[in-house]
Amino acid sequence: MTAVAQGQLPLRPAGPDTVSSLLDWYDREKRDLPWRAKSRRRADPYKVWLSEIMLQQTTVKAVIPYFEKFIHTWPTVTALAAADLDDVLAAWAGLGYYSRARNLHLCAKALVERHGGDFPRSETELLELPGIGPYTAAAVAAIAFGRPATPVDGNVERVTSRLFAVKQPLPGAKRELKRLAATLTPARRPGDFAQAMMDLGATICTPRRPSCLMCPLQDDCHAHARGIEAALPAKAAKAERPKRFGVAFLALREDGQILLRRRPDRGLLGGMLEVPSTPWIDQWAATDEALGSIPVHGDWWSVPGSVVHVFTHFRLELVVYRAIVPLDTSLTFWAEPDRCLWLPRRDLDRAALPSLMKKVIGHALRES
Ligand code: ADE
Ligand code: SF4
Repeated sequence: MTAVAQGQLPLRPAGPDTVSSLLDWYDREKRDLPWRAKSRRRADPYKVWLSEIMLQQTTVKAVIPYFEKFIHTWPTVTALAAADLDDVLAAWAGLGYYSRARNLHLCAKALVERHGGDFPRSETELLELPGIGPYTAAAVAAIAFGRPATPVDGNVERVTSRLFAVKQPLPGAKRELKRLAATLTPARRPGDFAQAMMDLGATICTPRRPSCLMCPLQDDCHAHARGIEAALPAKAAKAERPKRFGVAFLALREDGQILLRRRPDRGLLGGMLEVPSTPWIDQWAATDEALGSIPVHGDWWSVPGSVVHVFTHFRLELVVYRAIVPLDTSLTFWAEPDRCLWLPRRDLDRAALPSLMKKVIGHALRES
């Protein structure tokens, strides 16, 4: 058959041959990541689970040092279950989404209590554990236990939408993309298949300019055949992130201790330490109103500039006020004294501070 005639044939949908090409590519090119098994062995379920939870909010590169630190400190699920929650939160600080760390610890305890420290092997049993949703259950079942499950993350969605030229926009297309990815999942090596899709999406089938010429699936890819790969996956237009504003109060006591407050267990940054602040609302409050929320009386002055932090659901801008206060200072009613503590500046690094609060403190102490 001539190349021209071949080019005119309708492309068949991706299938088992596509999967073989992908797995061959994975065997040659897979990334050497610390949670992955050495060739063709099954990976340690504890490492798979821990890495998958960490990877849900950040990149492989950012996760590696955290992963190494966790495995070094808590080499088994039993060790993690026995750890102090505050130590786990402190080790997690900087990864964001602290409810994940909280659930990680809860899940480790549940594994010890319900399963003797072993991981159950089926997606359904995994789903019953705290913090394990459909993605993580499928990832652990496929990667650690060789079950034919299909974890679908952003990379897998992108590769699948392109392979099958799915034009329906995300998030509406999620179900269809999952269904299509599942049709490809092989009975042998389902975990390698999932990770190969992830690696392909991270290194070749990248969001803006996929390297189709280097792609092992080039001949099977419907988006590439039509030249529409860069436009996929389509995304529904999303609303602009709302803005919120507030004033944070950094009280530095004469003995070098800083006033911090523990946030309520539930909600954003639940249970984490914070620099006390006004409520975060949708417009700047008047200065007088803001100063009504001071946690201690003192000579407050505003630090030039502001701190901006982007959460999933809103963008926060905080102006920081700062005061140096005497040793015998007592807290105001608004400080919620029960939740407050003084922490020496030198202990800040070891405290479980969310990155927003590190930014606030860094901003407030820039020149001192
Ligand atoms: N992203 C999430 N999980 C991953 C994995 N197991 N391998 C590569 N990238 C990932
Ligand atoms: Fe992605 Fe291009 Fe490969 Fe298709 S050919 S899977 S668009 S890199």
